[in-house]
Amino acid sequence: MTTGATDMWDKLKDLAARETRIESLFAEDQTRAQSFSAQTGDMLFDYSKTAIDAAARDALLDLAAASGWEERRDAMFSGAPINETEGRAVLHTALRNLDGDPVLQDGTDVMPEVLAVLDRMARFADQFRASKITDVVNIGIGGSDLGPAMAARALSPYHDGPRVHFVSNVDGAHIADTLRGCDARTTLVIVASKTFTTIETMTNARTAKAWMVDQGGDPATQFAAVSTALDKTEAFGIPADRVFGFEDWVGGRYSMWGPIGLSLMIAIGPKAFRAFLRGGQEMDRHMRSAKGTDNMPLMLALVGIWHRQVCDYASRAVLPYDERLGRLPAYLQQLEMESNGKSVRMDGTRLDIPSGPIVWGEPGTNGQHAFYQLIHQGTDVIPCEFMVAANGHEADLGHHHDLLVANCFAQSEALMRGRDLDAARAKVADSFEGAELERQAAHRVFAGNRPSTTLIYPLLDPATLGQIIALYEHRVFIEGVILGINSYDQWGVELGKELATALGPVVTGEASAEDKDGSTRQLVAYRLAHRTS
Ligand code: F6P
Repeated sequence: MTTGATDMWDKLKDLAARETRIESLFAEDQTRAQSFSAQTGDMLFDYSKTAIDAAARDALLDLAAASGWEERRDAMFSGAPINETEGRAVLHTALRNLDGDPVLQDGTDVMPEVLAVLDRMARFADQFRASKITDVVNIGIGGSDLGPAMAARALSPYHDGPRVHFVSNVDGAHIADTLRGCDARTTLVIVASKTFTTIETMTNARTAKAWMVDQGGDPATQFAAVSTALDKTEAFGIPADRVFGFEDWVGGRYSMWGPIGLSLMIAIGPKAFRAFLRGGQEMDRHMRSAKGTDNMPLMLALVGIWHRQVCDYASRAVLPYDERLGRLPAYLQQLEMESNGKSVRMDGTRLDIPSGPIVWGEPGTNGQHAFYQLIHQGTDVIPCEFMVAANGHEADLGHHHDLLVANCFAQSEALMRGRDLDAARAKVADSFEGAELERQAAHRVFAGNRPSTTLIYPLLDPATLGQIIALYEHRVFIEGVILGINSYDQWGVELGKELATALGPVVTGEASAEDKDGSTRQLVAYRLAHRTS
């Protein structure tokens, strides 16, 4: 890290050490809510309930400027190979570039092919939406599953096509439970795998094929594939006219905008799918043009940097007050943790500040009745990222949505305000006295001053979902640039895969466990002793 950068981090640490009381920032600045928010279109990102004040925000903006994130952004959009460890461009944004403005990759405009594939997907989707097909089973994992699975659930009010199911886990329970509810004669299977080598996906794909043959379906007409490895899809027996390719400049966890979104497109239709893309494109435009504090992805990223790298809070909770965003935390876990969970910088040197945070969460209000206790009164501070729509889709259940919104707002208010000892005493004064009153009151104190942000939008429609996903993608990008890491590789998943392959014959007794550690030998011995099939 350069001396200049070290000074910036030191300054930020000093600013965090002031232990600013968030509530007092509102008392000092009547317009704080407005000035510590960013807006694009109808979407509002409010980060005023954090301890970031004007000085901290200026220092964060200086840090961002010094990282050269804008030049890096332009390099990304221009098709430069910013994924340096894999020598690849990062151009998933081209998949949602609906107007077809040229995007050059090695001197060739990729847009004609991107738009042609999108049109082919639409024709294919329309064909199956109008056919006897009742169920679509998407087989994929990681980026070939989480995006479409998350979005299919998020956009269920827009479903007017066949039912869609997502099988990812190599655990046979997943595919068995899914196929049990499907008729092999009216099911379309989409094998989604960028590499077409992922063991979980290929195992599930072979099982699905055998099931279809056995149950009277026809894999020759009822299987499709999405992959960059066209030789492998052919070897699997999927005819070329049912294969949708994409290029290696689309990372797995950034791929739902293109053919990996085929299952989603079949469920909601090409028009709604395009609206989703349009939302993502709008966020791209905003991220490329909005300056400083007006730039929502930049501010979301800087709030992230403040909480993780400056304040040292280890995790962040993503808390959508939207049942249909139930898979968003899992989706963001891959997006954020696979992208920024790294300890080595782009130049090969060690990262001397924390990497990206642990991301976790559940929809509200369910989480309130589970883990919010720790968020409010545990010893760790967990920044919370709330999100909520002003309106629900269930017009006749408006009172449900009113309660949902009230709960969302109440949580961020409670986290910030807390409850001091005097207020806690007053709560129990009627029931206890003396030492018992003090003891009981102590349990009812909330330290407060716990940071949160809220993202709010009119309705979770396809375009809004597109905006949200692109917002988080850009947040990850900017945080990665500030950390100086490569957000687009994932070497950390390799070792486990290699060892699992080697352990395959060991857990069946075909190979010896001799070279394993004592714990692994014991586990293998237990498995073999108890194995019944
Ligand atoms: O877990 C590693 C990973 O490579 C992810 O990055 C990717 O999304 C997932 O596996 C699935 O890969 P594929 O689409 O090649 O099957």
